[in-house]
Amino acid sequence: MCIILYLLARDGWLILLAARLSPLTPLITAPSQWYLPVPLPPTHTLSPQVQSSIDEYLARHFRGPVLLRDFALSTDGAIISRELTSSHRDTDPSVVLSDDNRIGNCWYIPSSHGQVGIALPTFIRPTNVSIDHIPVEVAAEPGQAPRRMILWGVVDGEQNTALYHQFSEELQANVSVRRMAPPLVFEGEAELFVVLSEFEYNISRLALVQTFPVRPVVQQLDFDFGQVVLEISENWGAEGTCLYRVRIHGERA
Ligand SMILES: *[C@@H]1O[C@H](CO)[C@@H](O)[C@H](O)[C@H]1NC(C)=O
Ligand SMILES: *[C@@H]1O[C@H](CO)[C@@H](O)[C@H](O)[C@H]1NC(C)=O
Ligand SMILES: *[C@@H]1O[C@H](CO)[C@@H](O)[C@H](O)[C@H]1NC(C)=O
Repeated sequence: MCIILYLLARDGWLILLAARLSPLTPLITAPSQWYLPVPLPPTHTLSPQVQSSIDEYLARHFRGPVLLRDFALSTDGAIISRELTSSHRDTDPSVVLSDDNRIGNCWYIPSSHGQVGIALPTFIRPTNVSIDHIPVEVAAEPGQAPRRMILWGVVDGEQNTALYHQFSEELQANVSVRRMAPPLVFEGEAELFVVLSEFEYNISRLALVQTFPVRPVVQQLDFDFGQVVLEISENWGAEGTCLYRVRIHGERA
């Protein structure tokens, strides 16, 4: 077994990581150009606790969310739906569709709630949503991290509208938000919205990218969506909120 230290540059961060590599169960088989491997002296060993926390770290950061396609990436064609986005002078919401998470490169909302509408490049059956934030240790105001959020889907097209009406009772079961739509909706149009997910970003967790599933009932009914709205209903205690990135995962419809 060989122990390797990684100086990891990820999302604008330098992270020092130690990883166990064995020929049978490689954790990282092919370090990419992002990593700079620095072999340790052979006498160096890690305690099982440290090893397991590194395993957990690697699992969280290199599996799952990072391996799910992000349909809300601007370089893939996603754009902000201005009509569905709360407007705050001086800040550009399109940063939340970019993978550049440098400190301060966030969409600043001067309160604890707001919403951003996203037009996806294609219709998808959403499965998960991920929120990125910077490590609280380096954030000037950790309380600006978003906390409670609701992901809404905009019901579009005959088939989805029919599904919505047919299953409205099931869709409203087990939802804690009492509204039928986000606070800001299209002007003059009676659009329908479905709660895709209600979730909480936990700043105490190690993972900077946290992934949440779309409600099973929405997935089972086979809805597809070309537009979603992320509503932030609460932050971690600061006056304003900084949203770094939102990722929408799913399958192309
Ligand atoms: C994504 O969602 C599916 C079901 O919605 C779930 O089984 C899976 O664990 C989720 N993935 C992650 C990385 O959370
Ligand atoms: C609501 O939640 C309960 C318990 O988690 C579950 O058994 C039930 O199937 C859910 N109902 C719907 C319509 O999703
Ligand atoms: C947040 O994460 C911490 C650390 O993993 C955990 O102890 C705590 O229970 C979590 N809080 C919630 C509300 O899940």
